[in-house]
Amino acid sequence: VFDEVCETTGVTLSRFMNEVAMLNPELKELAILFGAIDTACKAITNLVKRSQLPSSETLGYQGEVNVQGEDQKKLDVITNDLLKRALRFTGRLGVLASEEEDVPVDLIGNDKSDSRDILIEEGEKYVAVFDPLDGSSNVDAGIPTGTIIGIYEHDENCVVDPDCIGDDCSEQEAQCLANTLQPGTNLVAAAYCLYSSSTILALTLGNGVYMFTLDETIGEFVLSKPNVKIPDDATIYSFNEANLEMWDAPMRKCVESWRMGTGKSGKTFSSRYIGSMVGDVHRTLLYGGVFGYPGDTKNPNGKLRLLYEGAPMSFIMEQAGGISTTGKKRVMEITPEVVHQRVPVIMGSKNVVQEVIDAYAAE
Ligand code: AHG
Ligand code: MN
Ligand code: MN
Ligand code: MN
Repeated sequence: VFDEVCETTGVTLSRFMNEVAMLNPELKELAILFGAIDTACKAITNLVKRSQLPSSETLGYQGEVNVQGEDQKKLDVITNDLLKRALRFTGRLGVLASEEEDVPVDLIGNDKSDSRDILIEEGEKYVAVFDPLDGSSNVDAGIPTGTIIGIYEHDENCVVDPDCIGDDCSEQEAQCLANTLQPGTNLVAAAYCLYSSSTILALTLGNGVYMFTLDETIGEFVLSKPNVKIPDDATIYSFNEANLEMWDAPMRKCVESWRMGTGKSGKTFSSRYIGSMVGDVHRTLLYGGVFGYPGDTKNPNGKLRLLYEGAPMSFIMEQAGGISTTGKKRVMEITPEVVHQRVPVIMGSKNVVQEVIDAYAAE
């Protein structure tokens, strides 16, 4: 064990990504993107923590309603701008989509929102999709929040003519939109950052899940959990049970069986739910169990957004040996039709989530 600890002690995120890039030269540009994500998550955790200080003015509402119809928190906007800028200035992004942006933002043409043209590097371009502050309803109370990021490859023919203005861009913008409407199976990387008692960055490049903890004494994310695997069984379920009456019958049956101890495991479950997907999924990855936001009679597709919550978190869950389903379909196989499309998500330990799949199949 000592050798293993020795081997991974002090491996910073940047060293980890550089070694990945040395072993896989085609991922060189991805390492540059993760450099920006590293910096952005450190800046966001700092903002979130300092927002609780008496002198801070970053708590509370922005006074705007976002495209989701949600009252934006000030930190929703601040973190969105921060992450957008950090990713843009890598010069490796073609397009980005965010929970807090009405439509995808094209970055190859001149960015009208900023006078300086970005130096767009030749070579691999990526598409970034992100939820800059997940669980933001919790942020004013200092309860854990997170950031979720998905990275896709960019289809070069989505280049908006820099001189296009107004409606002339509609065709090109549709192209850019198409670049962001990719199924989770196209993801080349996914990551989340958890702002909690520690700041933890979890990532997958399609070859396992690696977790890094921010060591504030050196200001670096250091590898803390290599190759995370979710337990196949556990007795924790994580849902907003206030919606129970509105869920599909198979979902209701499963939760009731876990509560009564009449499910496959024959054990009674406990319930844990903090209302921040990143926090609830992080605990599920480490302790096992099932997290879900099912469809219901009010919202048949549930609440979570496919592009920048469902798909990236499903990629990480599957890479850790878990399952992520709508109840009827693998979340990663769904191709979004619109950027902010919602999707029912039930994800976690394979033997527990399998009970939900079986219940839907039997209906
Ligand atoms: P966001 O703050 O990015 O809008 O996401 C909030 C989501 C997700 O983090 C969480 O699992 C879910 O909303 C909680 O919803 P309820 O409060 O309806 O349970
Ligand atoms: Mn929101
Ligand atoms: Mn969210
Ligand atoms: Mn959010």
